[in-house]
Amino acid sequence: MSTVYLNGSYLPREDAHISPDDRGFLLGDGVYEVTPFYDGVPFCLDRHLDRLRRGLEWMRIELDVGALDEVHRRLIAENGLSDAPTALVYLQVTRGAAPRTHYFPPEPVPPTVYAYAKAWNRPAPERWERGFTAVTVPDRRWSRVDIKTICLLPNAMAFQEALDRGADDALLVRDGVAIEGAHMNFWGVFDGVAVTHPCTNHILPGITRGVVLELAREASIPCRERPIQVEELRSADELFFTGTTGEVRPCVEVDGVKVGDGRVGPVTRRLAELFRARIEAVKAEAAALSS
Ligand SMILES: Cc1ncc(COP(=O)(O)O)c(C=O)c1O
Repeated sequence: MSTVYLNGSYLPREDAHISPDDRGFLLGDGVYEVTPFYDGVPFCLDRHLDRLRRGLEWMRIELDVGALDEVHRRLIAENGLSDAPTALVYLQVTRGAAPRTHYFPPEPVPPTVYAYAKAWNRPAPERWERGFTAVTVPDRRWSRVDIKTICLLPNAMAFQEALDRGADDALLVRDGVAIEGAHMNFWGVFDGVAVTHPCTNHILPGITRGVVLELAREASIPCRERPIQVEELRSADELFFTGTTGEVRPCVEVDGVKVGDGRVGPVTRRLAELFRARIEAVKAEAAALSS
């Protein structure tokens, strides 16, 4: 039985009830975050909460985001996930329950804050080694996807289309640019330079993307933030995605065409190693602090 958090209380999932008038349900009027935990240790929780704070400010929803740090840790503990190698906390905030109007409720209502924790699994090492496939799908999202809203219909449609076409992932294309995945950021390696789309209103500023950029720079792997044209994909040496549960995820085929020699490339591999090493360092730091 899992314990969830709803509006200040920790309670069994079966007892968590959200109003049918909730503006998240009726209008998609909310934002969310997904934060990874490794062996019970949060990874970049502060950055996830910062992104949530920015989203809430933009939406003009008032909430003490600082208090959510404890909610994350307690959900992991209460759900017996302190020793889980890989777990996550999903947290969603909506504008709350009010009679349905397009404008904000004239009398302010408390936001709805809901969160749960669960374990997730990395792909088996041999599966990761084979790499993953993607197909290009038009990016039908709105022009503020830098805000992590719960309005994920275009992402869900794109992802389902990718699965229906026999691929593992969707690669969203807007105006001839390979923007990002349905739930991951996108990277290419061209002549040894790791390239990813700059942080504009057309991508989600991924926390994993940010960490991988830092790791690459620290390791003197050349990086550039610039758009990747779809026609460049055929000349890429390597392609990969980054995201919270995908971590560094090699992409070895797009639209049925092999990337490079069709195998996971050295830059992807190196960045994946560096990412794992960063996780271990964060865990070691947490252990030292608690001893
Ligand atoms: C559209 C999109 N891009 C990128 C990401 C990766 O972001 P992060 O690394 O913070 O998980 C996500 C994560 O959900 C996403 O939905």
